[in-house]
Amino acid sequence: MCGIIGYAGHRPAVPLLIEGLRRLEYRGYDSAGVAYVEAGALRLLRAEGKLGELEKKINGRDVTMATSGIGHTRWATHGVPVERNAHPHKDNSGRLALIHNGIIENYQERKNELLAQGYTFSSETDTEVLVNLIAEGLKETGSILRAMSWAFARVEGAYAVALVSPDEPGVVYAARKSSPLVFGQGLGENFVASDIPAFLPYTREVAFLEDGELVRMDANSWQVFDAATLEPVDKPLHHITWDVQSAQKGGYKHFMLKEIFEQPRVVADCLAGRVDLRAGRVRLPELDGLEPPRRLTIVACGTSYHAGLWGASLIESWARIPVRVEIASEFRYRDLLLDGDDVVLAVSQSGETADTLAGMRRARELGARVLGLCNVVGSTVSREAERVVYTQAGPEISVASTKAMCSQLTVLYLLALHWGAAKGTLPAEVAARALTGVHGLPQVIEAELPRMRERACELARKYASVRSFMYLGRGQSFPLALEGALKLKEISYIHAEGYASGEMKHGPIALIEPDFPTFALALRDPLFPKVKSNLEEVQARDGRIVALTHPGLDLTVDDPWIIPEVWGPLNAFLALPCLQLFAYEMADYLGKDVDQPRNLAKSVTVE
Ligand code: M6R
Repeated sequence: MCGIIGYAGHRPAVPLLIEGLRRLEYRGYDSAGVAYVEAGALRLLRAEGKLGELEKKINGRDVTMATSGIGHTRWATHGVPVERNAHPHKDNSGRLALIHNGIIENYQERKNELLAQGYTFSSETDTEVLVNLIAEGLKETGSILRAMSWAFARVEGAYAVALVSPDEPGVVYAARKSSPLVFGQGLGENFVASDIPAFLPYTREVAFLEDGELVRMDANSWQVFDAATLEPVDKPLHHITWDVQSAQKGGYKHFMLKEIFEQPRVVADCLAGRVDLRAGRVRLPELDGLEPPRRLTIVACGTSYHAGLWGASLIESWARIPVRVEIASEFRYRDLLLDGDDVVLAVSQSGETADTLAGMRRARELGARVLGLCNVVGSTVSREAERVVYTQAGPEISVASTKAMCSQLTVLYLLALHWGAAKGTLPAEVAARALTGVHGLPQVIEAELPRMRERACELARKYASVRSFMYLGRGQSFPLALEGALKLKEISYIHAEGYASGEMKHGPIALIEPDFPTFALALRDPLFPKVKSNLEEVQARDGRIVALTHPGLDLTVDDPWIIPEVWGPLNAFLALPCLQLFAYEMADYLGKDVDQPRNLAKSVTVE
């Protein structure tokens, strides 16, 4: 769960690596470091804390000589986040420097062997074990390439690594297994990184490295090898069409705010080419030739799980397919009852979430067919799924996921329509209404966002001092209540509970008092009268209520937040930005680090 970048070219490497790390900082920010070769010597610069701390260390030094190097931004897995554990790590001879994203599961075993051979360690990291294992491999095999292969054969776990050495100045080696790594080919320069935005200002030509591949690159050449056999592998290059601007803040104070405001465009992009209004149907060519599932299991984590919960009820209702939704970290370890009649849909923004990937792999082992719903093109989910439907939301930088959920809801909505049409379970008038409704949705969201933000600001000022919030919703609003609570807690650090409003009286109602307010989703739907009664139960305990509601509904609460009503399930697309903006404004008002909340990382590539 770290960000790595490697560069070999003609520009000063250190400033370029720092700039690349800035675009990878969403992957972790406990410490940062770079390594490069200068005048035949290996140089390491590392600092605890965010990238700015590393820059302070670099300031005043002349680091313009080196034209190749590696850089790392860390999210701690082994060892506390202090400088001695920061990457890069050197081997005992000081001839190799390595950066690593992932976890070497058998590192203790390997470390004990190396200790017995006289190796010493100055950090608690698994990475220092790996670099010394490569050094041992170098003794055995005589070349860095063979040494890396030798070492990888002896480790278990996940890694994306990059390595430099003064023995081969100007050369960067990199490899991956179960952690993301992309290669970028420039003109007289080459790159590797955990994610494309790291090098996007310099090239759009990329190759996605697969598990078990290793690349050797210098300024003018590159070659991918099978890490086990060292046979050369031909890799096709892909042209990336999105630009650096879409990976920048674009004038907004935070990426999160920018991404919330991108949602109208996200829905439009998701629909583009997929909705045929005249024919009254959805086109998902990615699923051509695939029968609708007989049983569907949605597997996901965090916000993607909430999107899955929301989508499940639509798929059940429109396509009459039984759907269960599973938290991936639970699903992967259960004694699962899956077979060839089951379809598993992995939902993941990043496509790299370790638990979701493990869930997919278990499902496949048991004979289920595995589909992916994913944002990042070329990610592991997209490559391991039998078919993948992309959410096309563009890069999501803020750790708090916003536009990705909006895009997931859109695709799940389309899937429900697609399978409903294929099975003939969806009445034509519902299909027509659903398609015209979703088609007009981007303009409605666009028009409402400024007003939503104003209301979120007002409410944030009023409620920012509370220590806890209850989020309540029923039916299709229940997943939104969970999501609202998740957003609030992850960026403002205010405790929040998302609950099904009908379930609240079975326990959580004991918490209600004036300082424990409730954020209710009380939209016009068949369950509104039930929600209203649940809110009356809260009011009877002196609980204050903010209620997201529709015009004309009979509801009296402390702070109504009235949003325009659209058709049926599409109301979620207007409720969602309100929940996101409320959390955003609370966190911003409290002066929290919105885009990089403490203890979190964007892509959770460890279990
Ligand atoms: O990339 P994924 O969609 O698989 O990520 C899943 C969760 O880690 C993610 O949604 C997380 O909960 C976000 N921080 C929520 O804002």
